Amino acid sequence: MTSIIEKRVCLHRKLANQQEQNSALKADVIQLQALANLGTASYMIAHEINNLLTPLASYADLALQNPEDKLLVEKALRKTVRNCERATKVMESMLAMANGQTNEKENTQLISLVEDVFTCLCRDFAKDGITVEIQIPEGLTVWAVPVQIQQVLMNLILNARDAMLPRGGILTIKAAENADSVCIEVRDTGSGVEPANLENIFKSFFTTKADENSPSGYSGSGLGLAFCKRIIDAHNGCISVESKPGEGSTFQITLPVGE
Ligand SMILES: Nc1ncnc2c1ncn2[C@@H]1O[C@H](COP(=O)(O)OP(=O)(O)OP(=O)(O)O)[C@@H](O)[C@H]1O
Ligand SMILES: [Mg+2]
Repeated sequence: MTSIIEKRVCLHRKLANQQEQNSALKADVIQLQALANLGTASYMIAHEINNLLTPLASYADLALQNPEDKLLVEKALRKTVRNCERATKVMESMLAMANGQTNEKENTQLISLVEDVFTCLCRDFAKDGITVEIQIPEGLTVWAVPVQIQQVLMNLILNARDAMLPRGGILTIKAAENADSVCIEVRDTGSGVEPANLENIFKSFFTTKADENSPSGYSGSGLGLAFCKRIIDAHNGCISVESKPGEGSTFQITLPVGE
């Protein structure tokens, strides 16, 4: 009899111990998840800030080489202020996203988002032999976090430019509204994606720009498209690609229309 009671007490103790360990492990998992989120946020912020700083550095350099060109110097300063403001917004939105908070969506004119991205990129595409064609109806709006859609567009436009260097080509940005969604297309006439790579390009760290011999002379981190997908997923939209090596690529984004 005693032995049965003792066994029961012993089992209860074991159970209590296991429950304690379980709670401690759960707390560890929560803490590790928070650290992982912070790691992702740091990567995302570093990547996106780099996108904003790179064109600024070359613009500022140009201004320093031509100090007598007051217009150029003023333009460089204006762009510095603008990109710094954008960098702050990008940081806030990425931190919020990593912390699982929702960023405020709003109805935003798509054309102004696109124009803003080109302003931030600074470098004139015509200098790289790239013709930019924008076919977006004036009043077309998207229900989205503006700074995040700009990040998506910036990454797609930078990839399109890389793919068209050094030969140049045509970059087309189109958009149209359907009954319940807005469809945005970013098309280039660049190198295209090898069929074997198509299924990998949205994965983090997949890049074909790993060496300095890449056509753009720039090495990539393979994060741009992974962030684009993450952002579009967070908007309940979808992003896909069609591409033919040697002919170019078309990235298509579908965003549901808002309230
Ligand atoms: N428009 C495009 N044309 C051809 N290949 C593309 C295009 N966009 C993406 N890719 C391919 O997909 C890969 C992943 O793109 P992603 O933007 O994620 O990374 P990345 O451009 O290599 O580096 P970064 O992190 O600096 O953006 C590229 O390395 C390239 O091989
Ligand atoms: Mg990229």
